[in-house]
Amino acid sequence: VDSEPRALYEYYERQSILPTHARFEKQEELQRYIASRRDLFEEKLSLPVRLFSSADVLEFGPDSGENSLAFASWGANLTLVEPNAAALPAIESYFERFTMKDRLVDIVQSDVLGFPGDRQYDFVDAEGFIYTVPTEAWLDVFARVLRPGGWFVVSYYERRGALIELFLRALHAETTRMGRWDASQTAHRLYDAKWASIPHTRSFDSWVMDVLQNPFVRSSEFIDPSLLMSQASSRGFSLYSSWPMYRDGLQVFWHKRRRTTADELEAAQAHLRRSIPSFVAGEKVYVASADRELEVIEQHVAAALDALDEIVLGKGRSDTGLDEALAAFQSAIEQAPVIQDDGGRTRLVETIAALRRASALVAAGALDELCAFTSSDAAFVRAWGMPAHFAVFQYRPA
Ligand SMILES: C[S@@+](CC[C@H](N)C(=O)[O-])C[C@H]1O[C@@H](n2cnc3c(N)ncnc32)[C@H](O)[C@@H]1O
Repeated sequence: VDSEPRALYEYYERQSILPTHARFEKQEELQRYIASRRDLFEEKLSLPVRLFSSADVLEFGPDSGENSLAFASWGANLTLVEPNAAALPAIESYFERFTMKDRLVDIVQSDVLGFPGDRQYDFVDAEGFIYTVPTEAWLDVFARVLRPGGWFVVSYYERRGALIELFLRALHAETTRMGRWDASQTAHRLYDAKWASIPHTRSFDSWVMDVLQNPFVRSSEFIDPSLLMSQASSRGFSLYSSWPMYRDGLQVFWHKRRRTTADELEAAQAHLRRSIPSFVAGEKVYVASADRELEVIEQHVAAALDALDEIVLGKGRSDTGLDEALAAFQSAIEQAPVIQDDGGRTRLVETIAALRRASALVAAGALDELCAFTSSDAAFVRAWGMPAHFAVFQYRPA
């Protein structure tokens, strides 16, 4: 039996598939992908892609390099740093196929903390893995390699936004442990219909490997944006943009009033607390009061996340307090004053009820009924939460 992998890339090295390889062959497939990246950067992160023209870009963890191709197409000079040797030939062959080799400055086989480079860059990009590395350690690397005024772009599992996906992981782990089907069959029986309900660029099997079985998909690894903002701020990084929004977009004050960094941080952190149900739901269910209701919601979500981690590690569901935490969260959401998009609260309540129903079925060992439920219940099938968050910080050392 293999020992537990110590790093996410060690886990990937042991797999037969790359985590995000989309296997683009035709120019149209690549162009469609580049258009979706442009939408992300320009519409959600307020980074016009013209900023990448002739910019020095350092990308950590590119995997097979789909995002790198987009940066290259916008004119970036790319340095790619990837620890998993299996990804390197995929990168080479993509740049060859799409004739963009002239944009590649270097490919370095290294993890983020071991990166030896001493040059400076306009952009650092690290998507899809940075939550598995201690935050202060990678922030120190980014401060070393970024030019003043430069930006870093990261994406990661956000604690509350990932509650539903962590639930899917825990349910899969528990059902597999019952021994009726192997891990892959269990995943198909539970989640085929759910997977088919949204468009993905990766395969179902990549998702099983990268989420359901990935030992790093644990709430103890996930990023708490409030903490990230404090840690970044103390190293001279200020929040530039994010998706979803960490800045309180409802604030109104005179444009000539300049706020201190501390005031900005405090306002964003208050906004983040009120956004907890929105992040869980993946849509707007914003808590409109700042007192008791908010504290209660925060506590129950934290308790549910802890319980899910324990189930993933092998504890029996009934010993973890999961159902109590979900029930209490549901009732807090039913009562809290919220600002929502049409029916957002009702949908979130239906989602939590669906999670509780799936919990009850697995606890009863009713696996056929469970699979029928997870494949057909509208609330269960549509719910994905908001697990992947993006944040852009600008380096403004004192
Ligand atoms: C989930 S993939 C994401 C690929 C791509 N960035 C994307 O967002 O589509 C994560 C990538 O990060 C790499 N990786 C994991 N841990 C890393 C580390 N500590 N330093 C640098 N790269 C790492 C993995 O080998 C893998 O290629």
